[in-house]
Amino acid sequence: QLKEKPVVKAYVDGCYDLIHAGHYNAFRQSRKLADVLVCGVNSDLEVSSVKGPTVFNNEERCAIVGACKWVDEVAPDTEYTPTVETLNRYNCDFYVHGDDVALNSDGIDSSHELKAVGRFKMFKRTRGVSTTDIASKLLTIDAKMRDRKELEIVEEEKTNLEPINFCNQPNLPSVLGSFNANPNFLASAKRIANFASVKEPLESDKIVYVDGSWDICHPGHIELLIKAKELGDYLIVGIHEDQCVNQYLGNSYPLNTLHERVLNILACRYVDDVIIGAPFKITERLLRDLNVSVVVKSLDFIQGGMLSCALDLKPYEVPYTKDIISEVEIESTLTLQEIARRVGSNREAI
Ligand code: CTP
Repeated sequence: QLKEKPVVKAYVDGCYDLIHAGHYNAFRQSRKLADVLVCGVNSDLEVSSVKGPTVFNNEERCAIVGACKWVDEVAPDTEYTPTVETLNRYNCDFYVHGDDVALNSDGIDSSHELKAVGRFKMFKRTRGVSTTDIASKLLTIDAKMRDRKELEIVEEEKTNLEPINFCNQPNLPSVLGSFNANPNFLASAKRIANFASVKEPLESDKIVYVDGSWDICHPGHIELLIKAKELGDYLIVGIHEDQCVNQYLGNSYPLNTLHERVLNILACRYVDDVIIGAPFKITERLLRDLNVSVVVKSLDFIQGGMLSCALDLKPYEVPYTKDIISEVEIESTLTLQEIARRVGSNREAI
């Protein structure tokens, strides 16, 4: 008689604040080591005592992490230093962490206990992306918003297309790179392939299309993607290229390069495929080539009202004419500016 293979359960944990492609790559690598991946999301209090206040609270961070296709279970409000008791609580065989050492509030390697009992495995930390880098860009935006009235800055940024250079290369013409290009995170086709789903749509599948910049992943994005997926069987997400986002949102955007934004969306369990550098104005050709039956109107929500001029270009004109537009209700009122404000207030509180 064949013996049933035991289910291997791994535990991974972190803050996952301002989630990025490095975190998603960590989930992907960890999931390969087990049948089930449990993700502990450190409590606001624990993170605060080690790293300072979080931008997203525990509930928001859990919603974001839970939407990742490599995470099977989310454990909220976990301790920063996992122990044998933590693994037993979630029925996990071992703990997985990146090859960096995370020091806890006592200055001790937070994996020390689980390393000592042989219940520790490691994955390769992804170079070139970090919460700190994203937070510092958001801090710049918040400082600008505080300096000038919000409306003024939005208006000015729409007309003045000189990019803010986060790479300290003031003489580099903007055409040579994306606007807030991240030269430390190289866009490799292999990584995109590792993230992408191989599922092809069936002939009978109802295909839904939703587009946007998808810059900082937040609970509103997740809500929108869940609702978009519910409208059909196969969800394709259009992601605007850096220059396009820069033109309609202004100088400081996007914070994440196209490559990073593509990876973040591909990591989402509700997404079946992405269009890399999707057209701002949805075309007849796009709808036909992708066999789209429903287009979710998302832009004014995703950009938090920063888009009034660009909306004059009527990005949804064609799907409106075809009567395939769907307007979904989103409860979350989060915007990029609100996230920047939170980063600014956190800095003040330190
Ligand atoms: N991680 C990773 N690659 C990165 C950043 C994080 O593989 N570029 C991994 C860490 O090794 C850890 C997990 O993601 O196992 C959770 O990280 P988190 O606690 O959120 O924070 P940091 O490790 O400090 O990451 P960041 O610098 O982005 O805040």
